[in-house]
Amino acid sequence: MSGFVGLKVFAPATVANVAVGYDILGFAINGPGDEIKIYPGKEPGLKIRAIHGAENKLPKDINKNTAGVSAQALLEHLGKTEEPIELEIYKKMPFASGMGSSAASAVAGAFAVNEYFGCPLSKRELLPFVMKGEEAADGAYHADNVAPSLLGGIVLIRNNEEHDVIKLPSPYGIYAVVVHPNISILTAESRSVLSDTISLNQMIEQTGNIAAFVASLYRSDFELLQRSLNDVIIEPQRAKLIPHFYDLKEIALKEKALGFSISGAGPSLFALCQNSLVAENVAASLVKHLKQNKIESQAYISLINGEGAVKL
Ligand code: HSE
Repeated sequence: MSGFVGLKVFAPATVANVAVGYDILGFAINGPGDEIKIYPGKEPGLKIRAIHGAENKLPKDINKNTAGVSAQALLEHLGKTEEPIELEIYKKMPFASGMGSSAASAVAGAFAVNEYFGCPLSKRELLPFVMKGEEAADGAYHADNVAPSLLGGIVLIRNNEEHDVIKLPSPYGIYAVVVHPNISILTAESRSVLSDTISLNQMIEQTGNIAAFVASLYRSDFELLQRSLNDVIIEPQRAKLIPHFYDLKEIALKEKALGFSISGAGPSLFALCQNSLVAENVAASLVKHLKQNKIESQAYISLINGEGAVKL
């Protein structure tokens, strides 16, 4: 690769669970995400040269950093572990935020390696490698952040172990609001509060809601989408981790959000909105309420990102 100076990729932030699909549903947003530069290194093997925007809180060890793990997994698959390669990671999103920060790194790591070697694998074929990276963050094997960050759009996962994912249609004009209150919740902690049993009635209600949510996307039926975005299992257990959760939900729905819940494992919150004006009102009201309660926050307003990971 003499003369080759490297390249740069981007993987977007994501909203996992989308209220009704714990570990099996997620979508990508525009704006926040991770950039990774990949260069020829000086010594054999993969190395993380630097991580920017993470206040020294993320590991540079390639066996611990999700970008390093996914990149290394792909290099092993390609038989290229002796190639001298360096990664430089630019976190352009908050971490431990519920916006898929570890997933964006995992996606960008393997995606960068694939691009570096001229795309021997398709995006979909990268899924097992990026999932391995994500697993390094919380010890669980789920694609609800990595699949939309990689593929873009709203993604349903039929089976995480089999990497069986389905990209769903995004209704025209639908906007997402993601508000990140400046508090941290680790995914592992947020998973640990969940009971591993549910009642038959909860199962019936939740499966009805997720099935109807999927139908609403195919039909661009916003009223059905609004009725469906109701999590009767996870949200009631996690709401206590997020200050003022139920007040914030009431505010979002009053501002005419179609639905509101926790983004991934929290503390970020998301709303889906029928247009940009509703989205702006929802975002402003949520940020204002948090501020009144002495919690600073950042709001992101975005169409669904249909593209996922890209080479810049
Ligand atoms: N589905 C995951 C969770 C997403 O809610 O724990 C966060 O990684």
